[in-house]
Amino acid sequence: MSSQGHGAVLGIETSCDETAAAVLDGAGRVLAERLWSQTEEHAAYAGVVPEIAARAHLARLPAMIEAVLAEAAVSPSAVAATAGPGLIGGLIVGANLGKGFALARRLPFYAVNHLEAHALSARLPGLAGEAPTFPYLTLLVSGGHCLLVETRGPGAHALLGRTLDDAPGEAFDKVAKMLGLGWPGGPALERLAAAGDPDRFALPRPMLGRAGFDFSFSGLKTAVATIVASYPAGALPERDAADLAAGFQARVAWTLADRARRAMRAAAGCHVLVVSGGVAANGVVREALRATAEAEGFRLAVPPPALCTDNAVMVAWAAIERRHAGDPGADLAVAPRPRWAL
Ligand code: KG4
Ligand code: ZN
Repeated sequence: MSSQGHGAVLGIETSCDETAAAVLDGAGRVLAERLWSQTEEHAAYAGVVPEIAARAHLARLPAMIEAVLAEAAVSPSAVAATAGPGLIGGLIVGANLGKGFALARRLPFYAVNHLEAHALSARLPGLAGEAPTFPYLTLLVSGGHCLLVETRGPGAHALLGRTLDDAPGEAFDKVAKMLGLGWPGGPALERLAAAGDPDRFALPRPMLGRAGFDFSFSGLKTAVATIVASYPAGALPERDAADLAAGFQARVAWTLADRARRAMRAAAGCHVLVVSGGVAANGVVREALRATAEAEGFRLAVPPPALCTDNAVMVAWAAIERRHAGDPGADLAVAPRPRWAL
């Protein structure tokens, strides 16, 4: 892809609990990047507290923007900030700082949809494997999101399925809590599950035999809770906890693969399955999706973990994709929005 005279882009991400800024050149090469995960700020509450998140974004973002601009040593020619969906306090901080910067320097401003940024991130130059060409399937699995979409280009996404209740990362976090693990629970649950037997407990396979592409995790979560509650409080043996963790993880991987398989069979013209979001870091989930994609004649494209979780590189990249598609970035009047469908 040529940079066609487009210059560098400053990207800003503040939609949840990652504060991030990055500068990419016009072709999408990363010139500078900073990211602060607010895990410690929220750990005591075992979940993201919106008010704390907004204050932490405000405390850190201005210095981060200065740092990436200094390191990149170029004047950006456009500014991009996540404007939704997400927690409104953080979105206001990031979008308004971005708009102010763009206004002061008379630069175009791109209000980026966070979900689109995840969906386009697999096309960043320099990643392993060929960049997926449109159209492709995107499975977004994180703590806040669970979507299956056909990505046809910037601004062109067809929603196929979504979760009817919890997002998968949210389910991982809740089950981890039941098993006495810390927050966020996904990585800890995966470690515990490594020693467990996934078939020891009879857990349900979510959406088994159901048509369509939607997801559901609350029934599986409740099944785990019921088993945990059958032990006296605090007396769940390590062995049983590991078996429960392995069983839960295997069922999540199974249902993600099952829904993705259905989509791969239905999406004519798609040959790549892109997976993004924090849950894509899970080895069992990735392996299930890789095997299923291969069986369906698809290639699985999973960006590296640092790009799968929230970051500002993908936000700047989404704006670069839009610029290449002819979008001038006239979004100063776009208000941050907590809900913003693709
Ligand atoms: O994309 P992300 O960093 O943030 C958003 O939710 O937007 O995803 C975080 C989620 C958390 O729920 C975390 O528990 C989950 O991704 N996660 C994992 C793993 N690593 C992170 N879930 C399962 N296995 C993992 N290895
Ligand atoms: Zn995200």
